[in-house]
Amino acid sequence: MKHLTLDLSGFSASAIAGAGISDSDLDGIAPRARDAFAEAMACWKRGDVGFWDLPDDHGAVADAKAAAARLPAEVDTLVVLGIGGSSLGPHALWSALVPPFGERGAGRRLLFPDNSDPATMAALLASCPPERTAYNVVTKSGGTAETAAQLLIVERHLVAAVGEEGARARLLATTDPERGGLRALAGERGWATLPVPANVGGRFSVLSAVGLYPAAVAGLDIAGLLDGARAVRDDIVAAGDDLRKNPALALAALLHWQNAEAGRPLVVVMPYADALYDCADWFRQLWGESLGKRSDIAPTPIASRMATDQHSQLQLYTEGPDDKSYLVLAPAKRPALVMPGDGPVAARPEYGYLANRQLGELIDAELRGTVASLGARQRPVATLLLDEVSSPAVGALLFLFEAAAAFAGPLYGVNPYDQPGVEEAKRLAFGALGRPGFEAEAEKLAVRPRPGGLIF
Ligand code: PA5
Repeated sequence: MKHLTLDLSGFSASAIAGAGISDSDLDGIAPRARDAFAEAMACWKRGDVGFWDLPDDHGAVADAKAAAARLPAEVDTLVVLGIGGSSLGPHALWSALVPPFGERGAGRRLLFPDNSDPATMAALLASCPPERTAYNVVTKSGGTAETAAQLLIVERHLVAAVGEEGARARLLATTDPERGGLRALAGERGWATLPVPANVGGRFSVLSAVGLYPAAVAGLDIAGLLDGARAVRDDIVAAGDDLRKNPALALAALLHWQNAEAGRPLVVVMPYADALYDCADWFRQLWGESLGKRSDIAPTPIASRMATDQHSQLQLYTEGPDDKSYLVLAPAKRPALVMPGDGPVAARPEYGYLANRQLGELIDAELRGTVASLGARQRPVATLLLDEVSSPAVGALLFLFEAAAAFAGPLYGVNPYDQPGVEEAKRLAFGALGRPGFEAEAEKLAVRPRPGGLIF
């Protein structure tokens, strides 16, 4: 694959005696994998599922750049208002591609309050001068309460500080091209808008305007993101329904097999690079919300920051229950930062082994140690290397995961594109807030002490 190397050999029977997948197992699941591939392709070809087309949308790149260029010159910060896929995707791009702590150069800073926690929002408003802050309100449906609440507060805050015109220059709505309250409101108020294609759902939307506009404001190479995604998409489609050739199909099928046949429902994604942690967090939503729909079988995704979690979770992973598959994420190339070979620290015999080595060698050594110790205990561990943390490689990574989710849905026997559990929670929140039309949901929330229940 261009930009990525996926090594699934740690899942094989030759790596995990008795609990890995053998050649005959692969032959056994091949027909189901072929069906899953056919079903995913059919959804795309029927036009029901549009994330496959996003890598070709050069118009979306041009529109995102043009909208970013229209921001007032004094704006130095863009706050993304949204939740779920409407925040996790752009956040993953920002964390992956913008060095932490540093100067922003020509790009602007992005902030992701994400949650509807009043403490976070109040602190954000207090610390972001209105004339220097723009807001991108992102909601595919246009109706999510958390995002609507953020918008209510921000719109008033902006108008009070910079007037109607100033607010209009600082607000951009990313939403369904036709439907929903935000589309209507933006039209009435004259706010700039960008579309999320109707057939692209929240957790599959990172390569649409949802991710592209904030990334363009941050000065990132958004055409490169789509280039990388397109390269992987084309590889996946060309590889077809043979799971021995198709990396996304193989990833989906092997993780499903670990869950269904080997009793390992947990999937731990372990980025050995801080830049990739929010990609793992985004994967949690993609995998959990797309596939968590049956009470008898479903994967539970976990994001584990490495090497940090070697000092927090690795004990559990190596000696705790054998109910997890592991996917290590790492860049093949890291920035150079040498540990000095002279001076009092290097002179100590306890630290001399680090002298004149790259800091990246240490984190890579930690990675190798984890792979070895999990492997030695017959725990399935795969590695996914990005050639480097660049826009094309990150685009490729996110697309590979999206394609794998599309294939895993049929393997699990679920629709990976809906989220009834999420929608139910949204309706219950409406009921709790007394929204007309949601009286039945409000009734479900009435608190009734349960006989025998303990309340202290
Ligand atoms: O993947 C999904 O569709 C959801 O998790 C959404 O991303 C999330 O609920 C936010 O929805 P919306 O973008 O409609 O506000």
